[in-house]
Amino acid sequence: MPEGRLTGKAILVTGAASGIGRATALRLAQEGASVALADRNLLSANEVAAEIGAMGGTAAALEFDAADAASCRRMVDQAVAALGRLDVVANIAGVLQRGPFAEIPAETWDATIAVNLTAMFHIIQQALPHLTATRGNIVNMASSAASRGVPLSAAYSASKHAVVGLTKSLAAEFKDRHVRVNAISPGPIATPLIMAIKPPPGHPQADIDWGQPEDIAAAIVYLASDEARFVNGTILSVDGGQTAAGR
Ligand SMILES: NC(=O)c1ccc[n+]([C@@H]2O[C@H](COP(=O)([O-])OP(=O)(O)OC[C@H]3O[C@@H](n4cnc5c(N)ncnc54)[C@H](O)[C@@H]3O)[C@@H](O)[C@H]2O)c1
Repeated sequence: MPEGRLTGKAILVTGAASGIGRATALRLAQEGASVALADRNLLSANEVAAEIGAMGGTAAALEFDAADAASCRRMVDQAVAALGRLDVVANIAGVLQRGPFAEIPAETWDATIAVNLTAMFHIIQQALPHLTATRGNIVNMASSAASRGVPLSAAYSASKHAVVGLTKSLAAEFKDRHVRVNAISPGPIATPLIMAIKPPPGHPQADIDWGQPEDIAAAIVYLASDEARFVNGTILSVDGGQTAAGR
């Protein structure tokens, strides 16, 4: 691989089998990082790892369940074993299930909070000694749903608001360890997660601007890199201006 903005960095990406996580893993590898691709979908994670290998990069696919504490912690240990060190954790795995609040099953609520929020608790706690050793950083996946209310997506929006609180709190707490913690708030990005609920043609929200997974990957490269060494506790909107426009 040619010299890149992340040459020498070892990066753990969760949710790396699809969408934003997949695009991020590919882009990080193009920038010279070695990557651990963690997902519940090992088959697809292996395919992404093979793509990276074919580019001359280094990647290891790891199976884990973000809803399971022990699995999260074991996966971090496996990533460190595979990469030999850990410079960056990109917490991207997430789920979105829509429905009226009154009808959300408790299991759906619990699963959303577990995957979108509590997994970050376990992964970051397990990764912290390694990130402290490398003066590394963390990039968490929030959402434009983290700064406004979203009808029919209360569990998702609540989990993403909490990701913002976690990110800011850890940025403040880890500052003296020289471990930076930032988050990205994407607007609508064309991935399997969201295309399933894309409004039909003619719907008032059908003609909004859609970003691509690569738009988010580019922002993660920046936050993960030493170019962002003075960026800490930031929630970076990557949404084509939709939050600014109040949409
Ligand atoms: N697509 C968007 O418009 C959008 C907007 C804002 C935020 N996000 C966030 O970006 C992140 C990635 O979403 P995406 O759009 O790429 O979705 P996606 O469905 O394409 O990818 C999500 C990945 O997470 C993995 N995953 C889900 N549950 C898991 C679990 N229990 N254990 C392990 N892996 C699990 C899936 O297997 C999948 O590979 C999510 O956190 C999502 O909330 C997406």
